[in-house]
Amino acid sequence: RLGDDPSRPSYHVTPPANWLNDPNGLIHWNGRYHLFYQYNPAGPFHNTIHWGHAVSDDLVHWEDRPVALTPSPDGPDRDGCWSGCAVDDGGVPTVLYTGGRDKRQLPCIATAADDDLTAWDKDPDNPIIEELPTEPEVLRTEDWEGEFRDHCVWREDGTWYQLIGAGIEGGGGAALLYESSDLRNWEYQGPILTGDRDTAGTVWECPELLDFGDRQLLHISNYEDVVYFLGTYEDGEFDADRRDKLDHGDFYAPQSMWTDDGRILTWGWLPEARDVSGQWNAGWSGAMSLPRELSLADDGGLCQRPAPELTELRGDNTSYDVVRLDAGDTEQLPVESRSFELRATVRLEDAEAVELSVLESPDGEERTPIRYTYESEVAIDRSASSTDPQATGDTQWMRVRPYDAPLSLRVFVDGSVVEVFANERHCLTSRVYPTRDDATGISLSADGGRATIASLDVWDLDSVW
Ligand code: FRU
Repeated sequence: RLGDDPSRPSYHVTPPANWLNDPNGLIHWNGRYHLFYQYNPAGPFHNTIHWGHAVSDDLVHWEDRPVALTPSPDGPDRDGCWSGCAVDDGGVPTVLYTGGRDKRQLPCIATAADDDLTAWDKDPDNPIIEELPTEPEVLRTEDWEGEFRDHCVWREDGTWYQLIGAGIEGGGGAALLYESSDLRNWEYQGPILTGDRDTAGTVWECPELLDFGDRQLLHISNYEDVVYFLGTYEDGEFDADRRDKLDHGDFYAPQSMWTDDGRILTWGWLPEARDVSGQWNAGWSGAMSLPRELSLADDGGLCQRPAPELTELRGDNTSYDVVRLDAGDTEQLPVESRSFELRATVRLEDAEAVELSVLESPDGEERTPIRYTYESEVAIDRSASSTDPQATGDTQWMRVRPYDAPLSLRVFVDGSVVEVFANERHCLTSRVYPTRDDATGISLSADGGRATIASLDVWDLDSVW
């Protein structure tokens, strides 16, 4: 694995070198967790995509496996093996993915050739869907005969169902439903949900439907954001009563795994926020988020928390009972690592805002403040994160619960990743690229009044490789 780049995460999954995008084919198989991902072994850029593969026994420690799917020069996936999912077909691990060839996006299927899921046999009858739906008509662009890709497959009462992401001619994104008895012959049923082009994007990539019992969640990626709809799915129609973003920062095309103990764990791609020459020089691009456990709260809203297994990574701990801050006070915590977890409960008292700055150099030249304001916003301000002009400097933010409730924060800093969980509900992930070796400190300050930070903990986190 490529090492010694201070921006390279050590406990988030990254490619051994070169390019990574979407998580794919997530499956808990034979007691092991398999994570496949969009991978270009030829360099840190998106081209002729393969499926990379990593495996874990505990969701915490990972091992690189050989490339699992390679485009076939004569096949419908000649130009790339794009995103897809894995299912258990009566004891046969099976993946559905999108093949790219010329201007077409072609659904394909492959079955595992061994129990370790290292090799896959592509079906000679690929592609398994050749005709694009006409009701409604799939969007054509200069580059593509149809924006029609990515797969979410499940079984209900012996029937297979599949969602494919699409764009609609003259409309917005859509999640299109298909039905099958054998995973190979598919009958088109129509969209389960379509979006308004102006508010939900022109194309929906990587749709995924998650079942929480009484309620269902559909998320889609619309080139910008991961939007989720919460509501009920019945008879091929999704009726949404809530809508939000799954993460408000650098997080895209997530996919979930149903574990053997019945949990839903979701990973997303954390794209880079530095320009292509920075990625080229680094030799690697892209990281996975931590696995997030998704569940429903009593009020019907969505909970997102880091998988509890991750506490295994905790090493040295620094703990503070309470830190009281007066207006204008700054408290510095000595941290000397770029891979740590911070847990804190923040109460604003009468302050306008609290700033918890990470990856801070002693003179403050480089710093990444996480700002919590009385307007119930959490923002990550990247304007001083890096002196490197190739790194993005904009601010990303999200709304959280009302200010009078204390804010519970879990912040995972890892090389160039700052992954924030607020109140076990809202997520904001930012990529940052400090250049200075000493940009590892933490500081706390309050603006315009007093604030209290209760039970602050910092843990060094180990590498997962
Ligand atoms: C999302 C996506 C998918 C596609 C894959 C190609 O990031 O564009 O729609 O299958 O990536 O790598």
